[in-house]
Amino acid sequence: MKTLPNPFRALIIGSSGTIGSAFIQLLQSHPSCTEVVGVHRHSEYPLDYQNPDSIENCANSLSANGSFQLIVNTTGVLHSNDWMPEKKLDDINAEQLMALMKINAIGPALTIRHFSQLMDPHNSVMVTLSAKVGSIEDNRLGGWYSYRASKAALNMLIKTAAIEWARTKPNAVLIAMHPGTVNSRLSKPFRGEQIGRPPNDAVRDMFAVIENLTKEDSGSFVSYSGEKLPW
Ligand SMILES: NC(=O)c1ccc[n+]([C@@H]2O[C@H](COP(=O)([O-])OP(=O)(O)OC[C@H]3O[C@@H](n4cnc5c(N)ncnc54)[C@H](OP(=O)(O)O)[C@@H]3O)[C@@H](O)[C@H]2O)c1
Repeated sequence: MKTLPNPFRALIIGSSGTIGSAFIQLLQSHPSCTEVVGVHRHSEYPLDYQNPDSIENCANSLSANGSFQLIVNTTGVLHSNDWMPEKKLDDINAEQLMALMKINAIGPALTIRHFSQLMDPHNSVMVTLSAKVGSIEDNRLGGWYSYRASKAALNMLIKTAAIEWARTKPNAVLIAMHPGTVNSRLSKPFRGEQIGRPPNDAVRDMFAVIENLTKEDSGSFVSYSGEKLPW
């Protein structure tokens, strides 16, 4: 049986991003979505992974307005003004590794922790965007050390939380999702415009998978196409 109820209320975390804003756009015009709320680093209730306290503060501020049946976390970084993904072992440095762990793994894990209180205990779905390159089994090309490692850490945190939720939140689904290669700010330096799909297409496909998720899917790593990916 599908977990996402109809109607549902949705929260998009990282709604300033390319994929996040495309989710907002899709859900604003979706007939089953009664309301979609977006949060990001500069929203009314800011959420910034450089400041972990902001995660709990943001969740507490939102809790006054009722629960959500769908939460999608679309935050993430691959590059910054100071560094690009590592091509070789000699490029590995502590600063980049720590920054990506903080933003791609620690922040989203604390988000699962603090935002779980906002989920409808009857039926709800929480999706965190990961990346296929975070799959250890699927790693054939190498490179991108800190991004791969941070997404692999994120995947483990999601899997572990899903095992706990099976006991403590049996009506909730928690998954990691790969959006595919999408034309976005994040993919731009890597020929994202040429090889990436338009964000609206990616989000339409991801939502089609999300609305069909069942309890049995919780704790899995799912592609935008619905394919189950190896951890
Ligand atoms: N695009 C792809 O091809 C692709 C492929 C695989 C996986 N993904 C994953 O999909 C997700 C969305 O990526 P995207 O392509 O939409 O990237 P994007 O356009 O760069 O959006 C990234 C989002 O993350 C937010 N963010 C960055 N640093 C943050 C911080 N310190 N605290 C809180 N939020 C922060 C950004 O906020 P600001 O607007 O404030 O910067 C923005 O909302 C990421 O998890 C990414 O790893 C993307």
